[in-house]
Amino acid sequence: MKVGVFDSGIGGLTVVKSLLEHKLFKEIIYFGDTARVPYGIKDKATIIRYAIEAVEFFKNFELDLIIVACNTVSAHALDEMREVSSCPVVGVVEAGILATANALKEKKANILIIGTKATINSKAYETGLKQVGFSNLQAKATGLFVPIVEEEIYEGEVLEATFRHYFKDITKPDAIILGCTHFPLIAKSLKKYFGKDTLLIHSGDAIVEQLQKSFCFETAYKHTKVEFFASENPESLKNIAKKWLNI
Ligand code: DGL
Repeated sequence: MKVGVFDSGIGGLTVVKSLLEHKLFKEIIYFGDTARVPYGIKDKATIIRYAIEAVEFFKNFELDLIIVACNTVSAHALDEMREVSSCPVVGVVEAGILATANALKEKKANILIIGTKATINSKAYETGLKQVGFSNLQAKATGLFVPIVEEEIYEGEVLEATFRHYFKDITKPDAIILGCTHFPLIAKSLKKYFGKDTLLIHSGDAIVEQLQKSFCFETAYKHTKVEFFASENPESLKNIAKKWLNI
């Protein structure tokens, strides 16, 4: 199996990490649109245009599947990507909703969704969570976490001040949907802030769960070959991949 993983930049590497841990694919082709990141502050039409261009890029490879690791693209452009793609396309938003429903049996649970402005404004998570019976939802656009993580700040004062800024009116949640590729890197700090018992839904683990449960994917390969492509500065992407993924 050969899969294409698409993200607006480097953040989708957190999804690649989960895919590598579970060895579901023989080959991963990663494309990060590093020249045009961030997508999270762009409008729907632009996000769709960029997403369609990514599908065109992936046509250079004979892929069995495209995984949209970017929450912003998954929230806005999945249908449009499916229309132009010759292989199936799955996104992290749907996977995150399924993972939440599997993990949380209590429908009254308080769920906090955090993501980019575009993801939160789309209401994609809220709509999907309501469809599976959850109603106690809070949503907050927390775009500043993206550059903070890119600065390799995963804990400490700057992050804690940003938590206080964004979360001052937030009721302690039972679960948080990490609705942005970068957020798993601050998971530890989020747990420290909200409490160890807070359940965190991680896009990478959610997509693995969906592939295993809904599409019957199994751990089938000893080794996964990964190739990295970027619209700007691929060397920098490769260096970050080495650091984040230990490869
Ligand atoms: N990859 C994006 C996401 O998951 C975050 C970065 C961006 O704004 O492009 O929503």
